[in-house]
Amino acid sequence: MATLQQVDIGPQYLDEKEEEILKKIKARKQELGDKLLILGHHYQQEATFQFADMTGDSLKLAKYAAASRDKQYIVFCGVHFMAESADILTTDKQTVVLPDLRAGCPMADMADIEGVKWSWSELDKILDSNTIIPVTYVNSSAKIKAFVGEKGGSVCTSSNAERVLTWALEKGEKVFFFPDEHLGRNSAFALGIPDDEVVLWERGKLLGGNTEDQLKKAKVILWNGYCSVHMQFTEEHVRMWRQKDPEIKVIVHPECRFEVVRAADKYGSTEVIINTVSESPTGSHWAVGTEINLVNRLHKRHPDKEVHSLSPFQCLCSTMYRIKPAYLLWVLDNLAEGHVVNQITVDSETAKLAKIALDRMLEI
Ligand code: 13P
Ligand code: SF4
Repeated sequence: MATLQQVDIGPQYLDEKEEEILKKIKARKQELGDKLLILGHHYQQEATFQFADMTGDSLKLAKYAAASRDKQYIVFCGVHFMAESADILTTDKQTVVLPDLRAGCPMADMADIEGVKWSWSELDKILDSNTIIPVTYVNSSAKIKAFVGEKGGSVCTSSNAERVLTWALEKGEKVFFFPDEHLGRNSAFALGIPDDEVVLWERGKLLGGNTEDQLKKAKVILWNGYCSVHMQFTEEHVRMWRQKDPEIKVIVHPECRFEVVRAADKYGSTEVIINTVSESPTGSHWAVGTEINLVNRLHKRHPDKEVHSLSPFQCLCSTMYRIKPAYLLWVLDNLAEGHVVNQITVDSETAKLAKIALDRMLEI
């Protein structure tokens, strides 16, 4: 996998007025026509999001990428792991571009391939690793997905984690789940797995900080990764809203802590959050525990409802925020002039194995 560095796009883009940039993006989009598909994740800032041809949560965007065989260029307004998945799911003739290479996902980086392989070999010392099914959240590198594909496991997203976990536990005796502790714990609880059969694997510690007996008893072993954006929501915020507004309904993303998800009225992927608020009756009151750009968009789109952020602080995904209109214009200008910049490519061996894990998820 090439590790490219974001180049300085220069004052021509960075000092230009946003109004001008937006006009130019519109013109470039028209010029590139049917060759181009812009995919936009729900956490994108509005100025960029408005140019997306398709928008969605991670699962929906992966499906759109897989179904876009007629598009030569896929510009992914999201984060690095999403663009990697798109590259894996598209053909060699298609090009996937991430407008700013610094748009990574810190949670995905918490599961590095060396650490995961070392942990697997630790587990193998006391358990038969053939009975363990690895499941990785889509927020992970292509290398981790390839490892999971090779070991008979699957990818999952926040909208199908419970289904994938059920599949994995039918296939094996235990699941090793990376990298998000909270999505894993919330999904295991929803399936009725008792607390003492869910253990935390602390990165870098012998046996992940567990005893042999704990690991032998466990059904689900959770990597201790987390999303710092969703960790900002607390049970206290839920209590505060309920006291302030008896009509409030609380909806959160499953990357939130267990206590927050338990205290909420509902939880789900970004797509589930949008659909739930959109379909609720006029006059509904919502406190939403997810990234602020999505909450602000819901607030604007539903003036007939009250939509607030669950937290009084701005819970911004600063890496998603890197996809600014200036960077989008820079990649489109280059594509229109026949240059590909910021291409995301996964080497063929990694892509082949990672695709097995992604395809399993799409089948489950
Ligand atoms: P969704 O799949 O729910 O869109 O979540 C992606 C993500 O990164 C949440 O932090
Ligand atoms: Fe990663 Fe969290 Fe940002 Fe989602 S919100 S992309 S999990 S850092």
